[in-house]
Amino acid sequence: MRALVTSAPGGWTNTRLTEVELVAGRAEEVLVQIAAVGLNPADHFQIEGRYPGGPKPPFIPGRDACGVVIQGDATGSWQPGERVVVLQSATTNLRQGTLCEQQWISAENLAGQPAGWTTVEAAAAPLVYQTAWKGLFDVGNLQPGQSVVITGASGGVGLAAVQLARGAGATVVALSRSEAKRDRLLAAGAHFVFSPTEEHLKEQIFAAIQSKGVSLVLENVGGPSLATSVHLLGIHGRISVVGLLAGLEGVVPIPALMFKRASIHGVLVTDDTPQKAQLAWKQIVEILDRAGFRPVIDQCFALESVADAFAKLNTEVFGKVVVEV
Ligand SMILES: NC(=O)c1ccc[n+]([C@@H]2O[C@H](COP(=O)([O-])OP(=O)(O)OC[C@H]3O[C@@H](n4cnc5c(N)ncnc54)[C@H](OP(=O)(O)O)[C@@H]3O)[C@@H](O)[C@H]2O)c1
Repeated sequence: MRALVTSAPGGWTNTRLTEVELVAGRAEEVLVQIAAVGLNPADHFQIEGRYPGGPKPPFIPGRDACGVVIQGDATGSWQPGERVVVLQSATTNLRQGTLCEQQWISAENLAGQPAGWTTVEAAAAPLVYQTAWKGLFDVGNLQPGQSVVITGASGGVGLAAVQLARGAGATVVALSRSEAKRDRLLAAGAHFVFSPTEEHLKEQIFAAIQSKGVSLVLENVGGPSLATSVHLLGIHGRISVVGLLAGLEGVVPIPALMFKRASIHGVLVTDDTPQKAQLAWKQIVEILDRAGFRPVIDQCFALESVADAFAKLNTEVFGKVVVEV
């Protein structure tokens, strides 16, 4: 079968689409014909060897997927012909990824393709929505009627968070550097959109939400954004740190943190057991279906053009880049 393989350290120099033997599956695994794969920055970091605890070469990159069961597991929990998505959990196999034609995947990490969703939408969703769900509700304890600021809101995790927070009854403030994305973020579910570089950002956000601070910041950007996020919090505000696109280190203004009695938490999507990931996914699909939201797709590429798809990740994306296998 064809697979994208990172055969040695060195990033893209040692990563190519090639013919490989499929590694035999275990009794608890299901053979899935992969139909589409949503790309994530984590895939890129793994190929470049920059992902903490990432797989050692050789490995097949790719985490998200939607496909069709070819052969079920020993317990019969999945049957041939069923359409499935791959969820992220503590038992995700990072070496045998999804950027290939077929893969054995633990039965416990599969869920049914949500009814009415396209294959591409389903492939684009799990990692970013599971991350957003964890940052907003599990770690962030966001409640209906509370307010949330989402940094990097036009990306995969950002848009997932905008939709989930809006669907759960929160007031949603989206931050994006791009003026061109403002209307699309409002259409995607944000109540307010600001540029992170806007003058008097804090005062503008507080005026918009009619409060002296937000309940939660979902921090996708990291680096210098972290200090701003602390200043945006209200009393007992929380920050869920998800990403680090603008830098690996941030400054925390200690007086603001202290006087607001605020807290900062790290979020890791693979923290959960498969059972908890299944429960989260059920809630995610329920919120989206109830609110009439679907994963936002930026662009689809064929497997032959997988390098172009990864290049697209580093451009002005709005939503998800997906590879169709
Ligand atoms: N902790 C976890 O378990 C976990 C899980 C998934 C993802 N992540 C991390 O979360 C972050 C976001 O992931 P994603 O999939 O949403 O990424 P993405 O789709 O690439 O989008 C991120 C968005 O952030 C903004 N952005 C990009 N570079 C920036 C920079 N240097 N400064 C400020 N803003 C920037 C962009 O929005 P604008 O151009 O509109 O400003 C972009 O659309 C990444 O760091 C990813 O590795 C972590």
